[in-house]
Amino acid sequence: MLGQREQWGSRFGFIMAAVGSAVGLGNIWRFPYMAADNGGGIFFLCYLFALLTAGIPIMILEFGIGHKYRGSAPLTFFKINPKWEWLGWWQVLVCFFISIYYVVVIAWALSYVIFSLNIAWGDAPKDFFFGSYLKLTGGPFELGGINTQILLPLAVAWIVAFVAIYTGVKAGIERIAKYLIPILFFMVVFIVIRGVTLPGSAAGLNFLFEPDFSRIFDYKIWTAAYGQIFFDLSICFAIMITYSSYLPKKSDVVNNAFTTCLTNCSFSVLAGMAVFSILGHMAFTQGVDVKEVASAGVGLAFITFPAAISSLGSAAPIFGVLFFLALTFAGITSLISINEAAIASIMDKFEMGRKKATIMYTGTAAVCSLLFATGAGLYILDIVDHFTNNFGIVFAGLIQVLLLGWLFDLKSIKDHVNPISDFKIGNWWLFAIKVVTPLVAGYTGIMTLIGDLKKPYEGYPPDALFWMGWFVLIVIVVGGVLMASYKWKGEQTLVKGGISLDR
Ligand code: PHE
Ligand code: NA
Repeated sequence: MLGQREQWGSRFGFIMAAVGSAVGLGNIWRFPYMAADNGGGIFFLCYLFALLTAGIPIMILEFGIGHKYRGSAPLTFFKINPKWEWLGWWQVLVCFFISIYYVVVIAWALSYVIFSLNIAWGDAPKDFFFGSYLKLTGGPFELGGINTQILLPLAVAWIVAFVAIYTGVKAGIERIAKYLIPILFFMVVFIVIRGVTLPGSAAGLNFLFEPDFSRIFDYKIWTAAYGQIFFDLSICFAIMITYSSYLPKKSDVVNNAFTTCLTNCSFSVLAGMAVFSILGHMAFTQGVDVKEVASAGVGLAFITFPAAISSLGSAAPIFGVLFFLALTFAGITSLISINEAAIASIMDKFEMGRKKATIMYTGTAAVCSLLFATGAGLYILDIVDHFTNNFGIVFAGLIQVLLLGWLFDLKSIKDHVNPISDFKIGNWWLFAIKVVTPLVAGYTGIMTLIGDLKKPYEGYPPDALFWMGWFVLIVIVVGGVLMASYKWKGEQTLVKGGISLDR
């Protein structure tokens, strides 16, 4: 089984799958409000800087090691150094915790596709979302039973992801991405074209893009920009290592990394334009400032945007359907990737077949995701999201660049990718991995940690923060070490197969 690794059918297919992972809920709702909250255009400049100094270099690194060592994250790290396998499992466990709430947000989006058909939220989208739809309870421990309205869309999201992974890399994952991503692109472009021609849209776009240069030294903007990059590009998540392990021997690693990153970034800009042009129009019709209508977080997609498209009159259902379908498609391809990263690891570790691993893993994850379909789901989601993203991912990323940059011959990766790539990487890349990314990831992680220790996140009760936050982190780290202490089912094969286990 180890000898015959699956492969992508074409370069285009691989790019679509990698872009499919990168382009997700993060582009459509997180990017626009991060920009809006952090000085608009100046955030965008910092974000581009983060893309060049951390995003693209790490993408090249992950594509490079995945392609060279041809393994899921745990197997790749094991082959690099048998003592580093736990880092791969750490990333896989982060994937697990993120996937079980990410899928629920996709389910909301799918519900809203249907709601858009008759604008079910009326003129009180906030009450509708928290009350009628989510049935939000008073706090994170008040589960209030499973919300049956979410069950059907949740099942749909899981089934689509399951089928894609079950049928395999080329026939499933690649094929679905090849259809969904181009469709997604056209849907978003369509919304943008209509959006920017609406009266008042300019004010919305200015709000999003106008740089406030006085804030260039504001460290909060810089940490927000670098924080967005990891989640946004699906890096330090085990995913891109896994996807690139299915690349054919002759693949232009550097070019693929640039294409994936720049396509993802363009999507964020497009999505931001789509959302903010329509928000600008709403502000215009209500005679208020854009600032007053732009809200943050989950609210942007499920409360503010619904309110905004209601201002489009008879065209509202079309834009609602397009927007929420775009959100769903973007989410589904990311959900597939986050599950594949874990399933590939199980297949490698236990020499298990794809079908069996997919059934066992998605079955478990689907059951766990029900917790987020309860009346307390939104609170639990908020806490798990905060801890996994700000600590789980940031520290996994930090350790990854420190280990590979300083305790490993990083040049060997450069020497691996340069002969197969048109565009050669040089000292800037080594410098970005060894110096820039550890500094910013370390700084960001430590600042958030200090912030959380000083003031409990969002004022949630301490026991909720413990069980849904700190404890999840403990499970990720301890679980990673335990999984790594378990012997490889194929360890003999690995050695016999002549794969070098030393660095
Ligand atoms: N990159 C995705 C986004 O922008 C988020 C994601 C990260 C999805 C990791 C899957 C895995 O939404
Ligand atoms: Na993204």
